[in-house]
Amino acid sequence: MQPTFVTERLILRPLQLADAPSIQNLAGEKDVASTTLSIPHPYPDGAAESFIAATQERYSKNLGSTFALISKETSELVGCAGMHIVSDYNRAELAYWIGKPYWGHGYATEAARRMLEYGFDELKLNRIWAAALDRNPASSMVMQKIGMKYEGKLVQHIKKWGEYEDLVYYGITISEYETALG
Ligand SMILES: CC(C)(COP(=O)(O)OP(=O)(O)OC[C@H]1O[C@@H](n2cnc3c(N)ncnc32)[C@H](O)[C@@H]1OP(=O)(O)O)[C@@H](O)C(=O)NCCC(=O)NCCS
Repeated sequence: MQPTFVTERLILRPLQLADAPSIQNLAGEKDVASTTLSIPHPYPDGAAESFIAATQERYSKNLGSTFALISKETSELVGCAGMHIVSDYNRAELAYWIGKPYWGHGYATEAARRMLEYGFDELKLNRIWAAALDRNPASSMVMQKIGMKYEGKLVQHIKKWGEYEDLVYYGITISEYETALG
């Protein structure tokens, strides 16, 4: 069973089929899709249901976990965060998005910090990394705030909506994480 976590303002719980309309509504916003590599735009009917089913299958195959981020105060879904695990290397890629109405409240940072704790304290991963488009400083800021280090930039590494884009990479190892905790 995928766990549920509670942070200061959020509940991080497994996705449920009933989350599909909220996901379609929030992830369907162009500004959310614009800086991600996997969210389609326009967001088709059925894509949220497929995404939810894929996250459940990924967890069952030990390939990672994705969490709905629920506001404790309003019970609304404000975004998603998750990790894709590569067991052979004992590492995971961290990913997250927050619905535009909820940007700038520290939710991504709060959820990503809990993901790191889960990855290192509970899953005993050796390394967690993440990538962002270079034109997405908010995501780089989230990674920096949770203690990930800048590891470099891959120039024109992907093509998004017809434009080549630079990707910035951040990462942290379990020893760096434990050292930072003191
Ligand atoms: C990137 C994203 C997840 C950030 O979510 P959020 O909940 O608003 O993030 P937080 O509030 O936790 O932190 C954002 C930080 O970036 C900073 N920031 C925002 N815009 C910025 C900009 N243009 N330049 C520099 N810093 C910026 C904020 O000030 C904040 O830092 P602070 O708390 O020190 O002030 C959200 O904008 C999003 O979902 N975007 C679309 C999807 C996406 O890009 N996902 C990540 C893919 S790698």
